[in-house]
Amino acid sequence: MFLHSKRLILRNFRDEDIDSYLVYRNDPEVAKYQDWDIPYSYAQAEKFIKSVKDMNAPKQGDWLQVAIAFKETDELIGDIGCFIKNEDARQAIVGYRLASSHWRKGYAFEAVRCWLEYLFEDMDIHRVTADCDTENEASFGLLEKLGFRREAQFIESYPVNGIYTSEYHYGLLQREWRTMIGRGNTC
Ligand SMILES: CC(C)(COP(=O)(O)OP(=O)(O)OC[C@H]1O[C@@H](n2cnc3c(N)ncnc32)[C@H](O)[C@@H]1OP(=O)(O)O)[C@@H](O)C(=O)NCCC(=O)NCCS
Repeated sequence: MFLHSKRLILRNFRDEDIDSYLVYRNDPEVAKYQDWDIPYSYAQAEKFIKSVKDMNAPKQGDWLQVAIAFKETDELIGDIGCFIKNEDARQAIVGYRLASSHWRKGYAFEAVRCWLEYLFEDMDIHRVTADCDTENEASFGLLEKLGFRREAQFIESYPVNGIYTSEYHYGLLQREWRTMIGRGNTC
């Protein structure tokens, strides 16, 4: 798996990524709206990297998770993934996260845009969806900037640290993506 944008590469995780991965996985700001517990151990990170490092294409019914790294230095700064629905190979769910030291520099926009191009153009995905906490302004702001449409709000639908939180559900179709790209207004 290897994709690239202006400043970033999306590539398979490597064993050497483990220290940078542990830093953002254990950052309470990054974990705030996510469903994992902190501390996240070295052994958990090792197991995760082992499970994803040889993946090379999304598989139906499985999450594909890849690293986001700087093109110039190969430093890991986050990750991005997708899940291809069991019931429909042309529908995907996306998820992403970035180390907080790199927020607000347009990297997530660049990485997700690159990922969408891969899903819509190379994988011929018809529809991509994403869910996020209704308080996660950064995430829904990013989705809206990318052209996603807010389609639903689910009330207290998702437990985070034992508390049920509410979620927005966003969607984007392949033809909508192509229209936006055609107008040149997503980058
Ligand atoms: C969501 C996340 C990936 C955004 O990363 P980022 O690199 O800072 O985002 P970008 O710089 O590319 O910003 C793109 C757009 O997102 C929106 N956005 C990003 N951060 C924002 C914030 N703190 N508040 C409001 N809007 C924000 C803005 O619309 C922004 O466009 P603009 O810069 O023109 O205003 C990052 O905050 C993160 O990793 N959060 C923790 C993990 C997480 O919540 N993942 C999503 C789970 S659903």
